[in-house]
Amino acid sequence: MTASISNTICDILIAWYDRNARELPWRNPPGAPVPNDDAWPYRVWLSEVMLQQTTVAAVKPYFAKFIQKWPTVFDLAAAGEDDVMAAWAGLGYYSRARNLVKCAGVVAARGGFPETEAQLRELPGLGAYTAAAIAGIAFGQRAVIVDANVERVAARLFAIDTPLPGARKAIRARAEEITPQTRSGDFAQALMDLGSQICTSKAPRCLLCPLSDQCAGRKAGEPERLPIKAPKKPKPERQGTAFWIERGEGAAREVWIVKRPEEGMLGGMRSLPDDGWSAREDGSSDAPIKGEIEELGAVRHTFTHAHLTMRVMRISASANPPGEGEWWKTAQIEEAGLPTLFAKAARLALARD
Ligand code: ADE
Repeated sequence: MTASISNTICDILIAWYDRNARELPWRNPPGAPVPNDDAWPYRVWLSEVMLQQTTVAAVKPYFAKFIQKWPTVFDLAAAGEDDVMAAWAGLGYYSRARNLVKCAGVVAARGGFPETEAQLRELPGLGAYTAAAIAGIAFGQRAVIVDANVERVAARLFAIDTPLPGARKAIRARAEEITPQTRSGDFAQALMDLGSQICTSKAPRCLLCPLSDQCAGRKAGEPERLPIKAPKKPKPERQGTAFWIERGEGAAREVWIVKRPEEGMLGGMRSLPDDGWSAREDGSSDAPIKGEIEELGAVRHTFTHAHLTMRVMRISASANPPGEGEWWKTAQIEEAGLPTLFAKAARLALARD
């Protein structure tokens, strides 16, 4: 690609962004100087970690809650891991939340975020994408920032038709070529906005696209078929059982809540006791405590690697179940910070009164 073509793409995109950038709570207005303020990289880091695997709409209320509870990285570093995990509940991919606390500790101890991509990469849980995003967006350094939206736009713009993940090398090389020396953070966010608003996965709105004249994918026809993805493997179906163990009535009604082991699915999160989702052939599973038992129904949940159908059994307890756990007032179950799977189970149990 000649330098003048990449300059053209860059100029068009930046001009489009100046007029059309989404206003987002973690974003600096287009072209505004990068604020020289410690809170700024914190906001960029927090939002970028939250936005991995999650939509802007889902992230907004969580971002607002975190900023209100922990306005700076120092506040977050001083927070209890349980509180952070509970505040994260519902956003998924919980290892992100645990890494967030670890990373905040390291950043606070060194007095703030480092500014270069290489130093950022050394922080716990911070991958290549996030390091580039913070360096480019928060510190105004030139960085090549490639997320799934950017991948899609680049694959179409340059008609890259090798299937993913193999196409990533060519996409990255093209992104390198078109990323400007200045405003690379705005440039990447322009690609992200274009990807989420115009160059969408299924029905790209090419008539509205500022780059339609430059787009080789559109010229070749059917830009929506790019990027080509390797066929997805079907997700295995898993079965499990969770136990809603309760005691008391009315305002005194309580449910037994456990904390999951740090390693493994939903590690470190609060949950209902369960059978490890490895149901026997006959679907039976041992209850953790004796008592009157009733099947309430089942909830479905999809993880990245599997679908899970989890039966929910209610047991009226007369004693504490074995092992560690705590009685939690059902009226305050929201505050337990149950991950979505167990929040669904709790909703089922509470709806059955
Ligand atoms: N997705 C990930 N980071 C983003 C950002 N800074 N703006 C818009 N969408 C994003």
